[in-house]
Amino acid sequence: MLREGLLVVVATCVALAAATSPPQSENIEELLKNVDARYSDNVFEDARLNVPDLIRKYRYPVEVHEVTTDDGYILQMHRIPHGRDAHNVPNVKRPVVFLMHGMLSSSADLVIMGPGSALAYILAEEGYDVWMGNARGNYYSRRHIRLNPDAILSTAFWRFSWEEIGMIDLPNMIDYALKVSGQERLHYIGHSQGTTSFFVFGAMRPEYNAKIISMHALAPNAFMAHNRNPFLKVLSRYADNMESIASLVGFGEFLPKSEAFAWAGQALCRDEVIFQPICSNIMFLIGGWNEDQHNTTMIPAIMGHAPAGASVRQLVHYAQGINDKGFRRYDQGSRISNYRKYGSFRPPSFDLSKITTPVFLHYSDKDPMAHVEDVDRLFRELGRAIGKFRISLSSFNHLDFIYAIDAKTLLYDRVINLMKAMDIHGLAGIADVKGIEEMEGFEDHV
Ligand SMILES: *[C@@H]1O[C@H](CO)[C@@H](O)[C@H](O)[C@H]1NC(C)=O
Repeated sequence: MLREGLLVVVATCVALAAATSPPQSENIEELLKNVDARYSDNVFEDARLNVPDLIRKYRYPVEVHEVTTDDGYILQMHRIPHGRDAHNVPNVKRPVVFLMHGMLSSSADLVIMGPGSALAYILAEEGYDVWMGNARGNYYSRRHIRLNPDAILSTAFWRFSWEEIGMIDLPNMIDYALKVSGQERLHYIGHSQGTTSFFVFGAMRPEYNAKIISMHALAPNAFMAHNRNPFLKVLSRYADNMESIASLVGFGEFLPKSEAFAWAGQALCRDEVIFQPICSNIMFLIGGWNEDQHNTTMIPAIMGHAPAGASVRQLVHYAQGINDKGFRRYDQGSRISNYRKYGSFRPPSFDLSKITTPVFLHYSDKDPMAHVEDVDRLFRELGRAIGKFRISLSSFNHLDFIYAIDAKTLLYDRVINLMKAMDIHGLAGIADVKGIEEMEGFEDHV
């Protein structure tokens, strides 16, 4: 108990002590010379570069777009409009895929493992126009037309959870991507919180389901009743008080992207340093980590970009789900404030049956964040769950969906096959996808 409490305190201190400063990328021209690596050619450089410069370094086309949400948050999106080695003719209209990162992460997740390994590059090579979102409050979307994220006396900027990310950020970013690309519909791939926010989006803004061709949930998170993440489990005990304590001490932000982490990543987590196993364990604590599938050489690069910041409420909302065992709107903390906001003493459940987008769930046996039983329940309650796929490697963990050495062969190839089949033949096409017999729920739909 004491040890667990200490954990929360330590994480909090790190968050408070950390000061954000922009990454250095003045020498980008230097870096652009002769880089054509399949993997990262220099993990320390990759730790320092911001996402657009990182993409430029590996000679992929990149565009930076800014979207102002209906409630004033300024979000940065990163686009890879076409491939580098294949499908590389510019200005061709391509099918659009929208990628959404998990909690405490950013679009960096989708490129950090480098060409040939990271999902965004693989999709671009396969002929997709790749758009990557950044949720309000993370390193790239830490701006508002009026509110100040660093205000000393007010946490107004941080008064959101993944509910607002789903209800406001996703519709604004998706509309924008469709407008610029000239497409009417797109595919959606989310990881972890990127799936939670989608389920909120599809349930609360059901008119948007028609704009989504298919949704792929990597490590799906909606129900948290069986969550075994040690960190969230501890937090769930303090869920009722956490936000009020946090706002008393004047912070609404949790683990912003910081030089402290980047430094630790480079000084302590590089190859040949005895601390490297400890770094694996810090990552494990936050997101789950798999010795067999993690490339330890990449830790400094990953820690240069993650954690990238989130609001305290994002964590609290998950903690509420662990306590409450449902998938509900944010609990305002008292019956009366719930009543004022929702017209009921308890926050209403998200109505998953309203999600009519064809959804594919990709999960694993050992993911403590997306437990098999919670995934099953989600599958049953979704309006149009087409099937679920269990990753064939049982040790596959929550962060492996993004960082695993074999993520491409174990997961991404299948996602892409499903998307391509749907692009050509719609849902009828998936019957012919290679390995489709491994899909649970297959018999019900074909
Ligand atoms: C691990 O990452 C390094 C640096 O990007 C790369 O050179 C190496 O090939 C990777 N190892 C595996 C097994 O993917």
